[in-house]
Amino acid sequence: MSLPTFPFARPKGAEPPVEYAQLRAKEPVSQVQLFDGSIAWLVVKHKDIRSVLTDNRLSKERSRPGFPELSAGGKAAAKNKATFVDMDPPQHMQQRSMVEPLFTKAHIESMRPHIQQTVDTLLETIVKEGGSKPFDIVEKFALPVPSYIIYGILGVPFKDIAYLTNQAAIRSNGSATASEAGTANASLISYINNLVTLRAETLQDDLISLLVKTQLIPGHLTKDDVTSIAFLLLVAGNATMVSMIALGIVELLQHADQHALCVSQPDKWTRPFVEELCRFHTASALATKRVAKEDVVIGGKTIKKGDGIIAATQSGNRDEDVFPEPDVFDIRRKRGDEEALGFGWGEHRCVAEGLARAELEIVFASLWRKIPTLKLAIPFEEVKYSPPKKDVGISELPVVF
Ligand code: HEM
Repeated sequence: MSLPTFPFARPKGAEPPVEYAQLRAKEPVSQVQLFDGSIAWLVVKHKDIRSVLTDNRLSKERSRPGFPELSAGGKAAAKNKATFVDMDPPQHMQQRSMVEPLFTKAHIESMRPHIQQTVDTLLETIVKEGGSKPFDIVEKFALPVPSYIIYGILGVPFKDIAYLTNQAAIRSNGSATASEAGTANASLISYINNLVTLRAETLQDDLISLLVKTQLIPGHLTKDDVTSIAFLLLVAGNATMVSMIALGIVELLQHADQHALCVSQPDKWTRPFVEELCRFHTASALATKRVAKEDVVIGGKTIKKGDGIIAATQSGNRDEDVFPEPDVFDIRRKRGDEEALGFGWGEHRCVAEGLARAELEIVFASLWRKIPTLKLAIPFEEVKYSPPKKDVGISELPVVF
């Protein structure tokens, strides 16, 4: 019998592929065929996903034979110099810990005024320009917020932001060819490399300067390592943040009662809204992949050394054993200590989760305070989502107010 091909397609809009619910019920650990004909394991239950993502017998190293790549672009990118997202212990934590100080709770709190100011400035411009004619809120708001924040952290000069945003979009855009994606990737790396050279000449108050001072100069990292780490931070979260902001806007506008709660009591409802958004939509669902370094049993199935494994976090976030009525978006949902898996799990769990959540909270609390009358300028059925086999996202979103 032929195996289903993976990634599965979303049936419409932002709805997760139907195969996930079927597999959760019938075959929680199954096999799928990938674009190049290779075969990988697919794990779809919340508990099994957590066990995959905390099992040190499973590797994140993309250079290992059998590592599951999902596209030609991914296969080509796997040959690039590895960053800590693709490393195993002990190198992974050695490098991750170099950037962690920027993402501690205290540091994120100290960044809130800057994030707030960035968001306010963008929203004030939108309000000033007026909302009687449709405009694309992805271009004017969802896209610039996360880029401005991460580029600010890294120390990228403001004048270069448009160029970098464009290259980053080509690099991660599923419709670019492997060669276009490769060229964009190389130009981003070369840009960052130049920036490292500049900061090594004159230190400033930014992340690249910090890495130069604490790692490059004492000889813990090479210049290429510093470039790779800065590059990882540049590309890791941007597209995902844009998607989550746009998806959140649509979700709110689709649920007038929940929108009203958020507008009337932002202090009470912003956090539950962001929590539910990060459960309901999994905008980075294809990153949690591993390859077995030895034979491992998961959900009763033996995964052989060298087999690839995909932990379907998008499915875990809709697991009915953990989240009752999982396909309902409800900010009033009763929550205990169960956690959604959209930021991953285990040692590779998103290092910038606190920053991402802070950005989302500030984005939405400010959006409904400053533009409470925001509406879509098109019917919901006409919203342009990412291609059905790619991570869920929205490419443009015409709105009025
Ligand atoms: C809502 C927004 C975001 C989501 C949903 C998200 C999701 C994820 C996921 C699922 C992983 C785990 C990948 C794995 O296990 O291999 C991850 C890791 C990572 N994310 Fe995020 N992310 C977001 C925002 C960001 C931002 C804004 C940044 C950078 C400023 C970022 C930087 C990273 C890095 C560097 C890693 C690698 C961590 C490691 O391997 O130790 N993410 N993210």
